[in-house]
Amino acid sequence: MEQLVINGGHSLYGEIAIGGMKNSALPVIFATLLIKDECVIYNVPLVSDIINSIEILKQMGAKAELTENHTLIINTRDVQDEIKGYELISKMRASSYLMGTMLSRAKKAYLPMPGGCNFGARPIEQHLKGFSMLGANCSCENGFISINASKLLKSTKITLDKISVGATINIVLASVFVEGVTVIENVAIEPHVDDLICFLNTAGAKILRVGRKIYCEGVKKLHSVRYRIFPDMIEALTYMTFVGACSGDINLTGVNYEHIKYVCDIFRKMGFEIDAYYDEARVKAGKNLVGASIETAPYPLFPTDLHPQFSSLLCFTKDGGEIKESIFPTRFAYAYELEKMGAKIKREDNVVKINPSNLSPASLDATDLRAGAALVCASLGTNGTSRINNVNYIVRGYENLVGKVSSLGGKIKLLKGE
Ligand code: EPZ
Repeated sequence: MEQLVINGGHSLYGEIAIGGMKNSALPVIFATLLIKDECVIYNVPLVSDIINSIEILKQMGAKAELTENHTLIINTRDVQDEIKGYELISKMRASSYLMGTMLSRAKKAYLPMPGGCNFGARPIEQHLKGFSMLGANCSCENGFISINASKLLKSTKITLDKISVGATINIVLASVFVEGVTVIENVAIEPHVDDLICFLNTAGAKILRVGRKIYCEGVKKLHSVRYRIFPDMIEALTYMTFVGACSGDINLTGVNYEHIKYVCDIFRKMGFEIDAYYDEARVKAGKNLVGASIETAPYPLFPTDLHPQFSSLLCFTKDGGEIKESIFPTRFAYAYELEKMGAKIKREDNVVKINPSNLSPASLDATDLRAGAALVCASLGTNGTSRINNVNYIVRGYENLVGKVSSLGGKIKLLKGE
């Protein structure tokens, strides 16, 4: 089994490029099912979730090539109506986008319940609510989802009961060809939602987001498109927590500061120096950061996908802080791993309190993507050699993590398992 070996306690200096946003590229790749022609998508991160998504589409009949320089050339013209790649589908949350896309393309979808990071239940009733209100018949039996539109889908007004990135994206995907104007209310407004809307409009769709409302006017067809994915806001913020844990001065290129300004303001109050200009962010941190307390919430507030990394960062501050997790109240598996390093971390329900901790190196297990990033953060900031197992979780969402951290002076290597 592969293992990350990190010799921590070294400050980070230098410059790295931030890649395309995994959680944008995933819906965009599945959305190519709505365009029976060649699409060229730039700035696609080379991570396993992306590679697996492309593999699913290839098993369904798509022609696709993902090049070294992050460009995906894909044509779904010959894709069959039957969804294939069940094993991959059951491992990835993003495969849920096959529901909205195949409902639009083939008027039906039959697939296993999508997987995803294992931090508790990942319900999809909001997705199915949207499909049903458009006129589709939905059912879940024996771990499979079946969606059928025996008659034409009809435009309507859908109000989501809770803000959901996946449900927002899936209902948009299902509405693209529905005659009339479908209105979706209480939508998620994460940058990856706007990225998908921008991609679809570039291909000829008529979608407008105004605040937490999306208006989707049905069109007959979408056309071939060339498109560039937005920068990955969580990758950028994750590297900032790395600098905070072990101090240093790094420059991040290819960022969109607009997407990360809320968290950067929190970092500044903790003592980070962050200068953003155009698509770059210069980030400095010393050893005397003060703590902070935050609550995770839908964009534009504090992203749940930075919660574990932020917990690790708080261990290295002068006064720690509290994190209230309001999106995924059970994403705390990382806390047990940090305790192995001696972290003074106490959880009560969905609140975790972290006190300043003098961590020791340890052998750790990544339990999901962002938990893995949190363990990298803690290990980089801790003198001595730590080992992190289950690297497969980390490579799902962080391209070339070893190369990027090493280029900044971090002592990290990947041990290939037997
Ligand atoms: C997306 O997951 C991301 N995954 C997650 O990132 C991210 O944490 C999450 O959005 C929130 O930002 C991808 O984009 C592939 P939600 P998603 O639907 O769409 C509840 C990562 O690390 N809910 O916005 O599944 C749900 O349980 C991953 O990159 C329902 O109750 O998240 C959660 O409490 C981890 N019913 C809340 O809504 C539904 O039908 C937000 O979930 C749908 C969701």
